[in-house]
Amino acid sequence: MEQKNYKRTTVTAALPYANGGVHIGHLAGVYVPADIYVRYLRLKKQDVKFICGSDEHGVPITIRAKKEGCTPQDVVDRYHKMIKDSFHDFGISFDIYSRTTSETQTKVASDFFRKLYDEGKLIEKTSKQYYDEEAHQFLADRYIMGECPHCHNLKAYGDQCEKCGSDLSPLELINPHSTISGSEPVLKETKNWYLPLNEYQDWLKKWILDGHKEWRPNVYGQCKSWLDMNLQPRAMTRDLDWGIPVPVDGADGKVLYVWFDAPIGYISNTKELMPNDWEKWWKDPETRLVHFIGKDNIVFHCIVFPVMLKAHGDYILPDNVPANEFLNLEGDKISTSRNWAVWLHEYLVDLPNKQDVLRYVLTANAPETKDNDFTWKDFQARNNNELVAVYGNFVNRALQLTKKYFNGIVPECGELLDIDKQALDEFKDVKKNVENLLNIFKFRDAQKEAMNLARIGNKYITDCEPWHVAKTDMERVKTILYISLQLVANLAIAFEPFLPFSSDKLRKMLNMESFDWNQLGNTDLLKAGHQLAEPELLFEKIEDEVIEKQVQKLLDTKKANEEASYKAKEIKKTITFDDFEKLDIRVGHIKNCEKVKKADKLLKFTIDDGSGKDRTIVSGIAKFYNPEELIGKDVCFIANLAPRTLKGIESQGMILSAENFDGNLSVTTIDKVVKPGSEVK
Ligand code: 2FM
Ligand code: ZN
Repeated sequence: MEQKNYKRTTVTAALPYANGGVHIGHLAGVYVPADIYVRYLRLKKQDVKFICGSDEHGVPITIRAKKEGCTPQDVVDRYHKMIKDSFHDFGISFDIYSRTTSETQTKVASDFFRKLYDEGKLIEKTSKQYYDEEAHQFLADRYIMGECPHCHNLKAYGDQCEKCGSDLSPLELINPHSTISGSEPVLKETKNWYLPLNEYQDWLKKWILDGHKEWRPNVYGQCKSWLDMNLQPRAMTRDLDWGIPVPVDGADGKVLYVWFDAPIGYISNTKELMPNDWEKWWKDPETRLVHFIGKDNIVFHCIVFPVMLKAHGDYILPDNVPANEFLNLEGDKISTSRNWAVWLHEYLVDLPNKQDVLRYVLTANAPETKDNDFTWKDFQARNNNELVAVYGNFVNRALQLTKKYFNGIVPECGELLDIDKQALDEFKDVKKNVENLLNIFKFRDAQKEAMNLARIGNKYITDCEPWHVAKTDMERVKTILYISLQLVANLAIAFEPFLPFSSDKLRKMLNMESFDWNQLGNTDLLKAGHQLAEPELLFEKIEDEVIEKQVQKLLDTKKANEEASYKAKEIKKTITFDDFEKLDIRVGHIKNCEKVKKADKLLKFTIDDGSGKDRTIVSGIAKFYNPEELIGKDVCFIANLAPRTLKGIESQGMILSAENFDGNLSVTTIDKVVKPGSEVK
């Protein structure tokens, strides 16, 4: 699709909340595609700015601070640095990564609000909100808990029940309580300022439903379902003490709503980057604005923010909002609270210098049209079977053979055979093909196209077998390697937006100064006589142990989650002391223990019970112990339980054991030396 002639492009990537790290879901959904797009535009020498920063306000940050016993500022300082560093190390090439607690942001967001307020574009409305009389504050929805009216989960939040997934309003909760003081909140009147989305509904319909039919179906569809309903005014201020103060008299204790504040962060970060020149990036109709986001942000970027921009009047509107669906991890939804994620800062340490592998896998599996799954097995397979075996192998053979036969100097090209012409021909359209896909945000297919070219190159060199030809016809080898090297150079450029670290490494090996997108498709890029640099492996095989370690890490998380969610069984009905006294519990010394034949679960114990005679007990704990581990232990057993016959053996009592949440059993041993037969009371 041909694009309109814009002078420049402002690309934004959703501002991540500074209350946790960035994980592969964020990367696949937002930052990797945005980075590919921006690198592509830069390679085409287009004027582009890539804007991002931390989203540092909002209730979840205050909740985290409370939990950690620190201030919200401490929380955002810590995570802002961590997120910024990990993006940088991963090669996400923002022009600026700032933060919504910056001075510029306070000023830009306050001025924005004030203009809407002064021009009567906001509605002042009083409503009843829950108030904590002990903590003397209004309660954000997340600070109220109670019983879900749908599934009766007692721990539903004021905005959502995490058990049944229902969206809630705090007023729907049964028996609400404040999570700050625990007290029952009261309803109290409060004033807030609302953006009348309803007044813009017709305009939105025209602008999106008629004017942007080219948006991705998931984005267009979500907008349509919002616009098919009646939009309601949305509060742009909150009663909260963390955020940008509402710049209006009589608004003490109120801050700008985080979803009013955050998108303005895009503007203020641009201003911070270019204090004198920022306006044309946001106000000139010849600027194209593109927002990269995840699907949970669609309504804010396609409806709320555009209405804010439209109401303000000075700004351009987004031209496209290529939102992705979600990425799952090993079949489960990624979850920060359950720590079910691959965290970027950990990946960078655990798999050093493998940025491009993750970038490749996340793009190959990009959730562009539907939710997708990331698995470590697939990660390994794509690295070993595609990056190493196809792209890396082709590059390595071309460079090593050039080194071996021609001292790393690009040879002359001789007469072309059909096989040569065919390979060159397939590269002819690379620029157009990759471009067409990138222009419509089909990153996954665009990368596939580049990889197909690597396959063609790899097949070409395999079919031509220069290592055999070298025995008889050095002139022919020159041509084969000349062509192979041209294909390698093309691949280095085509992959640059996707795999920037590898392309840079390859560029150095090819001894090329720089890349230009317009060189793509040129199969005379490296001139005969050009000296190549020393070849190195472009990608390395990832061994099973590395993958197993990562899988184990996730298994540990799963176990820890199960442990945390374990609730002790309810205590049984009360018994009398007499009932208790009926039980005769003793200490027994295990003299012998062996497996019971033809019974997987059973162990047979020979116990010294102090009576002078051995006692036999059969117990179903074979799954949890090897018999030898138990011999010599002093354990508690019930001595007066009626005997039972198990697999033909009479069991005279029961050894007591504790059952862990995961079903694991542990026998109750004695922690001092006690004579066999001692009573346990
Ligand atoms: O969903 C989120 O993670 C938000 N912090 C995204 C904000 S995007 C923008 F509006 F700044
Ligand atoms: Zn529920």
